[in-house]
Amino acid sequence: MKVVETAAPTVLLVLIIAGFLSPALAQDNDDSQLAAGERVFNTVAGIGCKTCHGEYAEGDVGVGPYLRGASEGAIRAAIDATGEMVVIKSVITEDEIKAVVAYVGKLGTLQPVRTLAKRGRFLPQEISIRPGTGVQLIIKNASIQPHTFKSDNMNIEELVIAGRSSGSLEWRAPETEGEFAVYCTNCKLKDQLFVIKVAASAAPFRQVAPVGTTTDSAM
Ligand code: HEC
Repeated sequence: MKVVETAAPTVLLVLIIAGFLSPALAQDNDDSQLAAGERVFNTVAGIGCKTCHGEYAEGDVGVGPYLRGASEGAIRAAIDATGEMVVIKSVITEDEIKAVVAYVGKLGTLQPVRTLAKRGRFLPQEISIRPGTGVQLIIKNASIQPHTFKSDNMNIEELVIAGRSSGSLEWRAPETEGEFAVYCTNCKLKDQLFVIKVAASAAPFRQVAPVGTTTDSAM
């Protein structure tokens, strides 16, 4: 009985708080949907899409294929019918599907640019991309210590990456040519740079067979 008595005010309080929050929820923007999609991608059903499709949806785990830029139709079809994904089908909500569709679609517009930070050195040390390219900069921290990465000319936030893991941030190259650099603020070697050359002569960013745009055998 006690439980019932105390539960009622709690429920009321929750309803009041929800009432205060709803205007904020109403102006749900793209950013919050993308953030929700990233959460789904990393955690849905306790494993996330990433466990099988790779942390950055590049299909590099060896289970599920490359997913960056997969269409809504392909994602819905896969959730419906892929045997390996049955754990997802039973728990994923409609909102979560929409969010993950937005997130995976967004990844498809970004060129993954990877470097490995090892003892303060970057491997590779340099990469060239076309002007105007949207980039997902992915830095893998090989050290067991967390390290902080920043740039003086890319207008990006400092990125703290835990030991033996990777972190990423989004950046768009300017329409003009130039050289940009990221460095580690607290690695062994502090004078090393990861250089992003923005050059018209660079190879264009090409999707790796965007899912759902090449074959439509599902029909
Ligand atoms: C337990 C592993 C696993 C998880 C978790 C998983 N997938 Fe998959 N997924 C697969 C496998 C394996 C395939 C390939 C199936 C095949 O080729 O028959 C696949 C295929 C796909 C395809 C079709 C790709 C193509 O080339 O046709 C899409 C789209 C997809 N998954 C999206 C997702 C999304 C989005 C999530 C998270 C909401 C997710 N998957 C979670 C294993 C997984």
